[in-house]
Order: sequence, then structure tokens, then C-alpha cells
Amino acid sequence: MNSFAEDVLKGLSANPRYLPSMYFYDEAGDRLFKEITKLEEYYLTRCEEEILNNQKEKMLQCFSPDGAGFNLIELGPGDGLKSRILLEYLKKHQVDFEYFPIDISDNVLSLLEKNLSRKLPGLKIHSMNMDYFKALDELHRFTHKPSIVLFLGSNIGNFKHQESVNFLKALHEKIDDDDRLLIGMDLKKDAKLILAAYDDKKGITRDFNLNYLERINRELRGEFLPEHFFHKAVYDQESGEAKSFLVSKCKHEVYIGALDQTFVFDKNEAIFMEVSKKFDGYSIEQLAAETGFRVEQYFYDNSRYFTNVIWRKV
Ligand SMILES: C[S@@+](CC[C@H](N)C(=O)[O-])C[C@H]1O[C@@H](n2cnc3c(N)ncnc32)[C@H](O)[C@@H]1O
Repeated sequence: MNSFAEDVLKGLSANPRYLPSMYFYDEAGDRLFKEITKLEEYYLTRCEEEILNNQKEKMLQCFSPDGAGFNLIELGPGDGLKSRILLEYLKKHQVDFEYFPIDISDNVLSLLEKNLSRKLPGLKIHSMNMDYFKALDELHRFTHKPSIVLFLGSNIGNFKHQESVNFLKALHEKIDDDDRLLIGMDLKKDAKLILAAYDDKKGITRDFNLNYLERINRELRGEFLPEHFFHKAVYDQESGEAKSFLVSKCKHEVYIGALDQTFVFDKNEAIFMEVSKKFDGYSIEQLAAETGFRVEQYFYDNSRYFTNVIWRKV
């Protein structure tokens, strides 16, 4: 059984049920996510682009105050459109760096490589197609130069609290004192704005979630009927957690061939799909302190909807 099958079995056998979010991104998932980033309601990408465009110069000063070279390691770059803002700037200013994108989606990595070799010829790029938890073990291979680890979007918000603590602690062990993280973090704001970003009018976020069931059908010989589920997003202002679910419209059974198992769904039973956590100054500082980091610098967009934060080891 491959790890996708194992993880689906684990999630659908749990109570309450869930599906691990790293498997959203097959070819169709990558395409749908790209569509999401262009939606009017999805402010996150626009805000982060604004930050990178307006503050790349200051970011470079933080990455390398003495102008020394570094490795730029990116966890989950996706299509890399935002990272390209930084890459173009670094290349234009003849900074000595090599780029290491790490992504679980081979589709996204090959597109990224193709685009970058066209737009930024000569860029030294070393793609790694693997889970970034596994990639952490490989980071020591690049330590001949300081590392700047990019974790953009709000990927950190897709972890539950304990997962992000475990992840950041593991990252802490792998990096050196003069390395830095640049983490994208979405901020708490008007609940209506946040909910709309996960429940858009065109229904692309719904399709992105339903594609997960279709991926199980394609790759694990599943027999999900996506029309038996509806997409539901909720936001809890206190915890800052926006969560999405697929909810069963009726009592029904689903057979998954690769697992040789039938799963019974009750009417209104929800499968938890993804969390997107929103932070504030306090929760950012707390998370850094809990995992052995300190915040070196915050960068904000004009609306203060989003922040990119530079972290260093304490
Ligand atoms: C939400 S997208 C964000 C992409 C980009 N950073 C952005 O901000 O637009 C998440 C990306 O991380 C990748 N990803 C998610 N979980 C991963 C994991 N555990 N290991 C490696 N890549 C992962 C996905 O394949 C996808 O390309």
C-alpha cells in the first residue's frame, strides 16, 4: 500500500473523519489552487505579493546583512509565482545564491523548473520532490552556506497547533544559528472576509475540496460520488481557525478498491479537510518562543491583512 492509500485509510477510519491536506495537490488540485489564488475573495496571494514587491530590498538586507551568499530553500513553493519576485530581485542584484524548491507535487515542480529556466536563465535550481518533513533530514546537505528557508503562502496555517510546533522544532534542529526562516502568516481580521476566502462565489474552493475525492477515485479505485457531498467552511474568531469540511448529504456507502474497504457515511457526517489558521502578534511570538525561535522582523501589506516574518534561532 502506498503512503496516499495508508493515509486515506487512517483518515477515513478515524472518528471524526479527516483527509490529510498534503494530498490536495495532484495535477487537477494544482490547477484549482492556482485558480483560487486569482479569486477576488482570496486576498492572501495579493497581500503577500504586495509585501514581496515592496519590501524585497529590506528582506535581502535581513537575509544577508554582510552580503555573503546563501542557499534559498523553499518549502511547498507551488507554482512559485510569488517566490519569483524574490528570485528575480536576487538575480538582478547578482546575489550569490542557489534555489532549492521542495514540493510533494511533481507536477508543480516540473512546471516551476520550466518557468524559471525560461524567465531566469542561469538560475541554479535543485528541485526536491518530497514531503517537506522528509526534506528536513536532507537540509544538512546544504549547510556549507547559510540557509534562508522560505515557507510562504499560509502553509504554516495548514498545520494544527501541535503539528506546527513539531514541524518548527524539527526545523530548528536542522538549521544553524545564522540561518533564517521567512514565514508567511495570515492575520486575524473581519470574519466575513476570511470566510469568503474559503467559500468563494464561483465555487472553486468547493471544487478543490471535491477533487480530493476524485483523486481517491482515480488513484485508489474509489467510488465516491462527489455530488453526495457539499463543501462547508467555518471560522472561529477566538482560535483564528478557518476550517473546511465535506459534508455527506445522505446516508451512503463508498467502496475504495485499493483499500478493499467500504466506508459508511451518515447524513450530515463531515470529513475534515483543512485548517487555515489566522494569527495575531501574540500567537506569532508565542509560537516562535515555544519552538526555540525569535522574531527578527515583520513585513506587512498596506491593509495589514498578512505578514511575512523573519525568524531566527534564539
Ligand atoms: C497552498 S499551496 C501554496 C503554494 C505557495 N507557497 C503559495 O503560497 O502560493 C501548498 C504547496 O505546498 C505543497 N505541499 C503541501 N504539503 C506538503 C508537504 N507535506 N510536503 C511538501 N510539499 C507540500 C503542495 O504541493 C503545494 O504546492
